[in-house]
Amino acid sequence: MYKIIVFIAITVLFHYVGHKSDGNSINYERSTSPDSALKNRLSFPLGAAVKIRHLRENTVYRNTLKNEFNSITAENSMKFEALQPNRNVYRWTNADYIVEFANKNNIRIHGHVLHWPKANPKWVLKYKGDSAILENILKSHIQTVMNHFKGKVRSWDVVNEVFDDDGKLKQTFWLKKLGPDYIGRCFQYARAVDSKALLFYNDYGQEYSMKKRHAIANMVASFKKRGIPIDGIGLQMHTRVGVSEAKIRAAIGVLAKTGLKLHISELEISARSKKTNIFKMEDDLEHQQAEKYNLIFKTYNTIPAKQRFGITTWNVSDADSWKNTKNKYFDFPLLFDHEYRPKEAYRAILKGLE
Ligand code: XIL
Repeated sequence: MYKIIVFIAITVLFHYVGHKSDGNSINYERSTSPDSALKNRLSFPLGAAVKIRHLRENTVYRNTLKNEFNSITAENSMKFEALQPNRNVYRWTNADYIVEFANKNNIRIHGHVLHWPKANPKWVLKYKGDSAILENILKSHIQTVMNHFKGKVRSWDVVNEVFDDDGKLKQTFWLKKLGPDYIGRCFQYARAVDSKALLFYNDYGQEYSMKKRHAIANMVASFKKRGIPIDGIGLQMHTRVGVSEAKIRAAIGVLAKTGLKLHISELEISARSKKTNIFKMEDDLEHQQAEKYNLIFKTYNTIPAKQRFGITTWNVSDADSWKNTKNKYFDFPLLFDHEYRPKEAYRAILKGLE
């Protein structure tokens, strides 16, 4: 009898614990409830990059997106190779699914990305013909994609990562074939299709490289002079706990001077543990990270309201981050832990707003 009671008690306990962490309920005990979520306390949208498979299959992922974010960016589903895997053959299913999810839940969707020289379908890289036809491939991709999402996706990263850290243009396949002015033409092609969409230039490392951020500011100035449309700059900010306050302030400060909208577009603060496959970050790392998150949100709040397009983190929880792979889990870069519980960084930002 005694053994049976113990067995039942253990079974019930396991069931309860298992249920709590089965991924279908969010544990907000540590900080907040959906009503008092961080997004409702900010003066700008809070975004997350979205992986299509998680969105389709993981309920807690969907719920966290709905409760905690009011802007999303497709992590990969709107890239060239995803949308046009073969020449003139477009695949819209995944991107449409994300857009529909966003629209249904009153979440803004930011388009990413029309042209990223690094991400190309194989058929493009094999192209050996003349540059006029290659330019036409790019133009037609930009315009077909913008047309498809017209009225639903109201902002786009038009061009991504064309500068090197030394401030010079990267010597890419595209630059070699089309020459430096093709970058401005991408923006003109985009504007011609959708006059209402906001057009962004997006790049990483602007907090680390002074030369790069100045090159971007100079490009904006030259666009303005030449009448080339551009509405905003994306600072990706795939950054690290060690990043200095001065660097963050400098990047946001210099780019804010352009007068354009700023989007902190792919934020993560990498905090790597020396051990792999542990699911709890070390406390001191968590404190340092919380401070940096708070600092970035605070600094962003100092730019004029009309320039605050929003802050987007590069996915939702540490478990979803591109910094971790299935078999190797050692980085904790985001605002939610692997069970979608808000982390110290989340609470630090909330506190910083008081
Ligand atoms: C990354 C995705 O997170 C990965 O899943 C993918 O394998 C490669 O691309 N800069 C960008 C993003 O603009 O599109 C990149 O996203 C990260 C760097």
